[in-house]
Amino acid sequence: MEVLKIKGGRRLSGSLRIQGAKNSALPILAASILADGESVIHNCPRLSDVDAAARILRCLGCSVRREGESVIVDSSGMNRCCIPDQLMREMRSSVIFLGAILGRCGEAQLSYPGGCELGPRPIDMHIAALRAMGAEISERDGSIFCRARKKLSGARINLVFPSVGATENAMLAACCCQGVTVVSNAACEPEITDLQDYLVSLGARITGAGTPVITVEGPIVRRGAEHTVLPDRIAAATYMSAAASAGGDIELRSIVPEHVRRVSDVLAAAGCEIKEGKDSIRVISSKPLRAAPTVVTRPYPGFPTDAQPPLMGALLRAEGTSVFVENIFENRYRHAGELRRMGADIKTEGKVAIVSGVKRLHGCALEATDLRGGAALAVAALGAEGASSVSGLRHIDRGYEDMAGELSALGADVCRQAAEDD
Ligand code: UD1
Repeated sequence: MEVLKIKGGRRLSGSLRIQGAKNSALPILAASILADGESVIHNCPRLSDVDAAARILRCLGCSVRREGESVIVDSSGMNRCCIPDQLMREMRSSVIFLGAILGRCGEAQLSYPGGCELGPRPIDMHIAALRAMGAEISERDGSIFCRARKKLSGARINLVFPSVGATENAMLAACCCQGVTVVSNAACEPEITDLQDYLVSLGARITGAGTPVITVEGPIVRRGAEHTVLPDRIAAATYMSAAASAGGDIELRSIVPEHVRRVSDVLAAAGCEIKEGKDSIRVISSKPLRAAPTVVTRPYPGFPTDAQPPLMGALLRAEGTSVFVENIFENRYRHAGELRRMGADIKTEGKVAIVSGVKRLHGCALEATDLRGGAALAVAALGAEGASSVSGLRHIDRGYEDMAGELSALGADVCRQAAEDD
């Protein structure tokens, strides 16, 4: 087992290119099933979740290969419509394959993705959207069976909440419907727009991504495509939080500043200087932080739930009281328990976390409980006195290409090494 060894107290400096977005790459890989021939997906991050998506595609009969930053999927050999349970378990977001498989094959079978570390993760909205298009869906023994007896047909779908995954599944299945599908109360996240751009390059007729109403005119006339995945706004938010925590002056390149505007606003209110370029951002943290105004997570363009843990990691020593309200996931303060071990003063009650700034944090042995919670521990450790070790790296590897390497490149004292008790 490996751990991240982090010695706190070094200021960060330098420039970092941000990886491609995990949450774009995964639905785009699922969507590659709808291509006729090859999809060349550039800027596809090297993550364990991307590897898991590639294993699912191979299991379905597609060929997948990596060439540098690009992943090339050829779906012409697809000959299965069932994802085995073991592969479903490897990646919690594998449910985004449902709409694409059903659309292409007329049937799909996968095991229920089940709960996750962020609380229950139901898929009722995904199922309701596919049913509205004419799919028959049953659940038995932990598996979901989807079947379109006749061709799926376009439908009006009104999501009760702008779920990212349900919006994506509806878009993917709608591409294969006869007629027009209108998804209202759709998620507006930038990754939805990226998926639309990819699907359009595949031959789909979709408009409206980035707004609450998405219109899909089916069926798609399939072809191959080439697409570049957009930059990862959550990785960017994490390294911005790291600079705020450790202090310093860093530049993040290859990002869309607007996508991290809510995070920039909070860090600016906490005393960082933020300078936006066209596709870069500079974070200067030169004085002790002060508490930020209440951070409320909401669907995009609100403050992203995925950036809440790393931001909390940065505000533990901010003078005053910072309040967080987590509206998207039920169980998203598990990092608080680990952060308390470093001396942080955090009280949580339901959706609310209250962080009272402490003078100092001390390094210690920590365990990542989930992906962004793990990032929060690394961010906090950079601003702590002494050394910390963060275990549970399988969580962090799901979403960060090389956290140790990237933080080291910014001057942090971080390395990845075998755990001492190995
Ligand atoms: C995606 C992101 C995840 C991010 C989240 C919210 C990917 C791979 N993951 O997850 O990183 O944190 O968006 O921005 O893109 N819900 C239901 N029923 C459903 C679907 C969702 O009740 O059928 C609930 C969820 O339990 C959750 C909320 O809706 O409380 C938001 O979930 P959703 O937007 O669907 O998140 P994901 O697509 O799973």
